[in-house]
Amino acid sequence: MLIRSPKSSQLSENQVTDQKVYNNRREILKGLGYLGAGTLLTSNSANAFGLFGSDDKPEFQTQALSFKESPQLKEQTILTPEQKVTTHNNFYEFGTGKSDPVEAAKHFKVDPWKLTIDGLVETPVTLGYEDLYSAFDLEERIYRLRCVEAWSMVIPWIGFPLHKLLQKAKPLSSAKYVAFETLYDPQQMPGQKRRFSGGGLDYPYVEGLRLDEAAHPLTLMSVGLYGKTLPPQNGAPIRLVVPWKYGFKSIKSVVSIRLTDKMPATTWNRLAPSEYGFYANVNPMVDHPRWSQASERKITTGSLFNRNRVPTQLFNGYEEVAPLYKGMDLARYI
Ligand code: MTE
Repeated sequence: MLIRSPKSSQLSENQVTDQKVYNNRREILKGLGYLGAGTLLTSNSANAFGLFGSDDKPEFQTQALSFKESPQLKEQTILTPEQKVTTHNNFYEFGTGKSDPVEAAKHFKVDPWKLTIDGLVETPVTLGYEDLYSAFDLEERIYRLRCVEAWSMVIPWIGFPLHKLLQKAKPLSSAKYVAFETLYDPQQMPGQKRRFSGGGLDYPYVEGLRLDEAAHPLTLMSVGLYGKTLPPQNGAPIRLVVPWKYGFKSIKSVVSIRLTDKMPATTWNRLAPSEYGFYANVNPMVDHPRWSQASERKITTGSLFNRNRVPTQLFNGYEEVAPLYKGMDLARYI
């Protein structure tokens, strides 16, 4: 059973999903019995529904998920409208403009998918497409994502803590870091064909965390947002979300997670080491060499003229991670 929702790119500003609509929709789905056990509730048979783009390829369709709702009181949280979350994106594999990915990724094929967890582990793990939604209990986490470009969004992510996946693989005591890699598929990801259109980045996009950062309970592998599977522009079918770090750490469309004893290379650090460090912890006291990080534009409405600037908080406000960096000079280890 496919629970079809309109493409977010077709929504107008006054149709953006606000807090109440999102909650109501969840109530309706619950009432219909869609939010039970199991997780992936629908099958992606775009073909059967005639959902073809103009060039005859099936368009990506998100699907409803079942998950444990966030204990956070949604009534007290102003979420960024879904329409904004899914149309204002950084995903250079699909173009460097914020509005490029929603369009360029609309035919992205994610099934079959293969995610491997290997390297310095006792038990290498491979997850296929269906496993992403069924191997772990899915839960909702409302996290702020603070982009290095000084804007932020508040998003109801759905996923599972990375440490649960790491536990399955049983890291060896020699493992100190975790290296992540995005899919490399220039046929599907036009930005990977030419460095110019891909922002000058080297592909595949790679990221890394220290093992203790990766194992922190806040670190999430996300497979959905706003009650549904991730749309391609947000990193379908699975991406990382590290809410206390600048958004570029939250690597999308992950195919490989490798445990290692060496600090892994990271895409933005490789391109501009003086601007982007390995740690990339949100820090209002340490400016980017070309702009201030002291405040951010909080994207809470669909309006282009939103002037909602707020002070940026250390670790994006997730102060429980401070012990991870005890004794470290955060101005040096950027
Ligand atoms: N992952 C890949 N593979 N490619 C990218 O270009 N952009 C990063 C991050 N993950 C990026 C990526 C940046 S700069 C940000 S701010 C976030 O994704 C944006 O996530 P969102 O579009 O879901 O808000």
